Amino acid sequence: MDRNEYYVHYGWSKSPFIKSTSLDIPIIGRVDEYRQVCESVGGWDRIIVVTAPIGYGKTTFMNQIMMKKPIGVDYVVSFDAYEPEENVARRIISTLPFWKRLSARNMDRTSVGDFLQKNLGKKRLLILFDEAHEYDDGLFKWLRILNDRADNVFMMFFGLSSLVDRITAESAFRDRKSRTITLKPLTTEQLVEIVKNRIAWVKGKGTAPFTEAGIKRLAESANSVPRLLLENGQTVLEGCAKREIFEITDRVVEELLGTHTYEEKIEPEVEDFESELSPGITVEKAVPSGDFTDELSPTQLEIVKLLMERESMSITELSDVLGKDIRSIGSLIRKLRGLNPEEVKRKPGVPYPLVIRCSKEKRAGRIQYVYGLSDNARRLLAK
Ligand SMILES: Nc1ncnc2c1ncn2[C@@H]1O[C@H](COP(=O)(O)OP(=O)(O)O)[C@@H](O)[C@H]1O
Ligand SMILES: [Mg+2]
Repeated sequence: MDRNEYYVHYGWSKSPFIKSTSLDIPIIGRVDEYRQVCESVGGWDRIIVVTAPIGYGKTTFMNQIMMKKPIGVDYVVSFDAYEPEENVARRIISTLPFWKRLSARNMDRTSVGDFLQKNLGKKRLLILFDEAHEYDDGLFKWLRILNDRADNVFMMFFGLSSLVDRITAESAFRDRKSRTITLKPLTTEQLVEIVKNRIAWVKGKGTAPFTEAGIKRLAESANSVPRLLLENGQTVLEGCAKREIFEITDRVVEELLGTHTYEEKIEPEVEDFESELSPGITVEKAVPSGDFTDELSPTQLEIVKLLMERESMSITELSDVLGKDIRSIGSLIRKLRGLNPEEVKRKPGVPYPLVIRCSKEKRAGRIQYVYGLSDNARRLLAK
């Protein structure tokens, strides 16, 4: 059965596992982290940094804050890394009620701080920056000035853990009172809720076709990472559509994931031996190096180069071409995707994910995941 037919069979408008952070997607609220934000705002910690690896729910947490303003905050505005710098000032001002904006017509970036100081009065403005590890120094410098000039402006930066170093390296921000919040891994129960809410969101009935045990097994397969939950969920659904399975039990989940997730799960002991042994690689902390390739191990670099030439490759193809063990290639791909928190922490200059999973395709006679460079990586490497 075609997968779309399968969705229709259950009355779904689309797959419940689509990867998206649009605002209508049901969110399992992060109670503890949200409380920490409110506390920081109440205590005038005006710079708040939220870190977590890719796929843990940073953008989703940002959405949670947008939808329910923390206590004490009057205005909220959010940005992602792709917002052109020159728009930032304009958009900040446009969140204010219109009567406060009247005098803002001919303003340049440098006077935004003074403008906000004058016009906010007792109101507090919270500015959210997603993927802030991608920002360039110029923007951070400007934000520091804004922070200096306008007392009632609070900023939250969301990003990978390298962000903390970025922000403290910008001497401008170093001595400001700031607060770092690390997103906690979600529990299996929370991941189960995510699945149930998402099925309801696509207009499904109950948990069908999943049994309770099936959902629980799927939740466990995600290793606390919501993005992995969605990927695995999609794999299971597509497998069930193809095989026309209409009851997804824990056994079914295990069978369908067993063959496909080894590269997520297996961490062979040899994996680190290269980076440990390569002489002369000094990891420059906190310096947003233009050349992050210095931080990659030789085989990681070979993988990246190969993917630069070819659109996409499967793990098996990569291991054939490079003559390396399939398991260590799997592990390296996982690292290049930014899914290994230690590695991400250790290599702050690397703009993860360098590699993304593109699709599942039939190659060499069997269905395999294929991987390619992220747009950002391709752009940076082309320079
Ligand atoms: N608290 C949550 N409740 C429901 N879904 C979540 C939650 N956190 C993350 N997700 C889902 O997991 C996926 C990845 O989350 P995302 O916020 O994009 O992670 P990040 O920004 O850290 O890479 C999203 O599609 C999102 O819908
Ligand atoms: Mg995000």
